[in-house]
Order: sequence, then C-alpha cells, then structure tokens
Amino acid sequence: MQASDYDKIIHTAFMVSKARQFTDIPYAKELAQLVEAQGLVELSEPQNQDKSALLTARVEARYKAINQVMAQYQIGQVLELASGLLPRGLFMSCHPNITFIETDLPRMIRCKQQLVEQLVGERPNLHFLSIDATSRPSQFLKSAELLKAGQPIIILCEGLLTHLNMAEKQLVCANVREMLQHYGGVWITPDFIHTASLTQSQEFDASLQKLLQTGTKLTGRSLVDNNFATLEQARQFAYEQDFRVAEYSMLNVMDHLSCLKILGIDTEVVRKMLALWSIFALTLDVA
Ligand SMILES: C[S@@+](CC[C@H](N)C(=O)[O-])C[C@H]1O[C@@H](n2cnc3c(N)ncnc32)[C@H](O)[C@@H]1O
Repeated sequence: MQASDYDKIIHTAFMVSKARQFTDIPYAKELAQLVEAQGLVELSEPQNQDKSALLTARVEARYKAINQVMAQYQIGQVLELASGLLPRGLFMSCHPNITFIETDLPRMIRCKQQLVEQLVGERPNLHFLSIDATSRPSQFLKSAELLKAGQPIIILCEGLLTHLNMAEKQLVCANVREMLQHYGGVWITPDFIHTASLTQSQEFDASLQKLLQTGTKLTGRSLVDNNFATLEQARQFAYEQDFRVAEYSMLNVMDHLSCLKILGIDTEVVRKMLALWSIFALTLDVA
C-alpha cells in the first residue's frame, strides 16, 4: 500500500490519544494504555511529546461538546471521519440501536480495529472502513451497505479539517454534502477553527506554541497557515460550501471537564480558552 501525504497526520492521533487518557472519557485510558503496551507509540515517534494540559482540556471539551450537540438529534447512524483513536464508537455501539462507522486512512483504521477488537471483541453495529475523506470520487460510498437508506446520518470529525489546506477542506465538504443530500442529517465538527483563537490560546499557555511546532514538524503542515484568520471567515467558508451553520460554544461543557481536577488545571484559563472555540452543526438547505 502506498503511503500518502496524509499519513504523516496519523502521528497526531497518537498525540491526542495520550492527552485524552487524563480524562474520564469512557475507554480513553484503556485505548491509550493498550497503544503504550503494544509499543505502538513508535508509530507516532514523539516519545517526548510536550505535555500541555490545555491540549487535554481542548480534546476533552471538543469530545464532550460534540456529544452534547449529537444528543439534540435523534439519529441512529453515525459516520465518523478520521476517527484515529477516538473511543466514541466503542462507547456508543454499546447501544444496539446505533450503527456506528469509524473511518480513517488505511494504516490508522487497521490499527484501530485491532485495538478495539482486543478490548471488546467484534460488535455487529460497530464498523471500520478505510476512507480518505478528501478523495474524489468519494470513498464515503463504501459505507452505503452499512447504512439504512432513507434514514438520516450524523457525520462527525474532530481534528481533521484543521490539518488540511483550503482546497482539501473543500474536497471533504463536497463528500459530506453528497452524503447529506442522499441521507439527510447533520455534520457536527469543531474543525472550523480560526488562527486568532490559536494565537490567543498560546498567550494562556506557552507550551501550546511548542506543541504546535511539534505538530507542524510531524505532519509537515501548519495549523496556523491552514486555518481561517477569523471566525467570520470560517463561517463564510461554510456558507460558500452550501452549508447552513448552527454554532454551539464549547463553554457549554465547562462544567463537565474532568481533566481540570485530574491535572490540576487553572479553571479560569480554560474558561477563557473555551470561549474562543465552537462546534459547528452543518446542514443543507432543503430545496
Ligand atoms: C489529530 S488526529 C485526530 C484523530 C481523532 N479524530 C481524535 O480526535 O482523536 C487526525 C486524524 O486525521 C486522520 N487523517 C488525516 N488525513 C486524512 C484523510 N485524508 N482522510 C481521513 N483521515 C485522515 C489521521 O489518520 C488522524 O487519525
């Protein structure tokens, strides 16, 4: 199998998984520990990953904020893009009425499937597909045989668009649009980030800057260059991609962050940081 330019982004899945183990997110610790025990961190290289408590806070907040928005939709089929080592599929598929499809690049999704099966075995309603979210023609159609026709879907991604340049983001948008046109439903993501929020967050925590540099070194991609200058530009981009946008502040999960206590993080710093971030719920205009 040929490695793609995107393969370097796989490293970041291991970084955020490490960060997520300092939370009470179900299965986060188990997954991170299994990765560690199997020496899979080698895959991700940065053994001396710079620790940033605020990375954990962001990762926990976006996970929980997405779950909160998802709960507003009574939708039973979920397509998660760029799942990495996220434990959401593991958790949600405990409910037999949910169909959960995890997707990522081939190397990552194979690894994820093995880890999940070691933890809980196979589940009839939890699936793993290798999908390059940017590919045109779309690879999302691989999920068609697992999805119920005529029923809406929730599409998710966290930490994918942030690494992609504008042209690549547009490709993902086109693939998501096609799915929503076909099934209906919603795309929920915290990935429409703006660089002003990155700069401001670095003011709260100097180690974030190092972390961004590590990320850029690993992926060959700059979070600063690949994102929107302002929140207004992020919104404008989503509108130009024909989505209708509802925004939810990440402050909504402030009271649910377990890492504040676990890592002894300054609550007020996190509050200021979360005020800068939001979850977008994107839908199509019904003709
Ligand atoms: C920062 S990690 C986030 C992983 C996971 N969403 C999380 O929050 O833990 C970025 C993920 O994007 C995946 N990725 C990168 N390029 C991709 C592409 N073109 N299509 C699908 N997934 C991709 C990587 O393999 C990696 O799992």
